Amino acid sequence: KDGLAQWAKRHGKYWGVAVDQGILQKPGWATFIAREFNQVTPENSMKWTETEPHKDQFKFDAADYVVDFAGKNNMKIRGHALVWHKQLPSYVTDIKDRKVLTEAIQSHIAKVVGRWKGQIQVWDVVNEIFEQDGSLRDSVFSRVLGEDFVRIAFEAAHKADPEAKLYINDFNLDDPNAPKTKAMIEKVAKWRQEGYPISGIGSQSHIAPGGGHRHAAALKALSAVVPEVAVTELDIPNAPTEDYVAVVKGCLALENCVSLTSWGADDKVSWMPGKNALLFDANFKPKKAYEAIMSTP
Ligand code: XIL
Repeated sequence: KDGLAQWAKRHGKYWGVAVDQGILQKPGWATFIAREFNQVTPENSMKWTETEPHKDQFKFDAADYVVDFAGKNNMKIRGHALVWHKQLPSYVTDIKDRKVLTEAIQSHIAKVVGRWKGQIQVWDVVNEIFEQDGSLRDSVFSRVLGEDFVRIAFEAAHKADPEAKLYINDFNLDDPNAPKTKAMIEKVAKWRQEGYPISGIGSQSHIAPGGGHRHAAALKALSAVVPEVAVTELDIPNAPTEDYVAVVKGCLALENCVSLTSWGADDKVSWMPGKNALLFDANFKPKKAYEAIMSTP
């Protein structure tokens, strides 16, 4: 290991990357990724549409490829994402009945989490469940089950792999005073008190230039109500050095901030093409922000 992986290890943390089979099979990429990162998030291959496109018909090949790659290259895995309103098949979005939806969530999670029991360090159990104003997002899950789907999902994941850390993950948790950040803190504190097996909050961290310091303050606020937090999908348009360093320092300042994940290996394969938001340019070349991170003590 070298680069970000080595740097993270020195600080007792992980630096991850979102990838899938297609990227890992491009010539040269697997070597680059195995060298720079010590954690991986399957970018799409563990989502509901990919793993259970039709009821009770499971497909694991693409995700297995990433799990094998991680195993061979000494990388931890963040499983992503079990219950999300996007990349969700229509047989699920069409469900109207409480019992049917509860059973669909439970059986999906039992199968997907069970598949790699003991191999996945962390799961994003629910993803993007809040609106900007802090209310619960309107989705099939909240419409049919109200807030209960959160408990159902966490309990199912815990049952399927009691060792895995279980996260609630969201975007725009980048300002400590935003209603959404406050709602996350309040709800997670309450849910944990009620016994939901929530280990951590994931802050996606698709942040805007200039937002680095606010982000660090928000992460600190989030970290107060959970055993751990993670920066799960980091990218910042134009990769400003100051913001990248602020985010990194924000995590370093927290004993319980366990990992940072770049949402993509380089600008060529970023989900936001042309935004120049990652730490490597389109030719694996590290940017200024990368060098600045590496020289952060
Ligand atoms: C994105 C992937 O990067 C894209 O390849 C895909 O087309 C759409 O999803 N929040 C999340 C991630 O939690 O799963 C999303 O990933 C980016 C936003």
